[in-house]
Amino acid sequence: MKIAILNGGGDCPGLNAVTHGVVGAASKLGWETIGVRDGFEGLITPGNLIELDPEETPNIMKMGGTVLGTANKGPFSAKTGTGKVRQLPKNLLAEVKASMEAEKINSLVAVGGDGTLTAALQFHEAGIPIVGVPKTIDNDLDATAMTFGFDSAVTCVVDALDRLHTTAVSHKRVMVLEVMGRHAGWIALFGGLGGGADVILIPEIGFDIKQVAAAVEAREARAKHSTVIVVAEGAKQKNGRKLYRSTAGAGEHRLGGLGEMVAEKVGELTGKETRSVTLGHLQRGGSPTSWDRILAIRFGVHAVRLLKRRHFGRMVNYHSYEVGDAPIADAVDQLRTVNPKGQIVDAARSVGISFGD
Ligand code: F6P
Repeated sequence: MKIAILNGGGDCPGLNAVTHGVVGAASKLGWETIGVRDGFEGLITPGNLIELDPEETPNIMKMGGTVLGTANKGPFSAKTGTGKVRQLPKNLLAEVKASMEAEKINSLVAVGGDGTLTAALQFHEAGIPIVGVPKTIDNDLDATAMTFGFDSAVTCVVDALDRLHTTAVSHKRVMVLEVMGRHAGWIALFGGLGGGADVILIPEIGFDIKQVAAAVEAREARAKHSTVIVVAEGAKQKNGRKLYRSTAGAGEHRLGGLGEMVAEKVGELTGKETRSVTLGHLQRGGSPTSWDRILAIRFGVHAVRLLKRRHFGRMVNYHSYEVGDAPIADAVDQLRTVNPKGQIVDAARSVGISFGD
């Protein structure tokens, strides 16, 4: 058996640990693993296949990014910016089949988010043996309770908040931290709760800027002269719209700018000095936490198990401390968002955190 592994979409701490899990489990079965460079396109572009040595992958496991590279645009994009599914051309899929046959690759492991898994599903429907591994720091795929990379991103947010608190106190300022979270506020919620934010704004709970200012003023009244606000990039004002950096092109909108807007408005409404910081891709870089490494290795090992059982068209998932799997078809398009009435929001409100609503 000769299998291949590839990534799709944005990178994420833990991708190399998945590769390690796949290569290790495959080699135990006497299988060879090929790494595909730069996403699906690497399957049909000459010179993009590399042999992965099971003696070497323990060394890459702790590294951030991905040694294989990834791609979030190009001919294999199965999702457009508007969330619509794009059918991959038949000749493209036929080209993949021919190239796999020529390289004697029997089956594929695709590691990625919604877009990559949508493409993987189309591979499966076209008769290409494939399994999926879910990946997103946003942790917003419904088919799994947890994705690797999320814990690393939250750790980065908590570290940033610890730093922002001290300077906020020194200068009696309002500090706003904008974090990732396109459709779901998991990073802002977990990061904000763990990092002791005073206000958390997430896409699932529409905010009113006047309520955010009121939270700052309520703190002032209690002689708390600094406030730390965490804003998910996809947070929305009540009855309002998301703030986009640019709307050009066919791909996903680039979000960003909301933190700056919140800082400006809160400054105007309260008369306080405000500053904003966008954490951006720092959340996606660096080494995975131990939790993410372990989850990612387990995902990789389970993906090989699925291939061995010929359970193609399925993706690995994680529920109640167990790694399992589900049909890819059930996984795509189902977002897991924060329940505004759920336990975690309740815990945050109970310790005095405002959601600006
Ligand atoms: O989907 C993951 C994500 O981290 C989003 O939260 C963010 O909007 C996006 O990726 C940024 O992607 P890019 O690398 O294209 O800037």
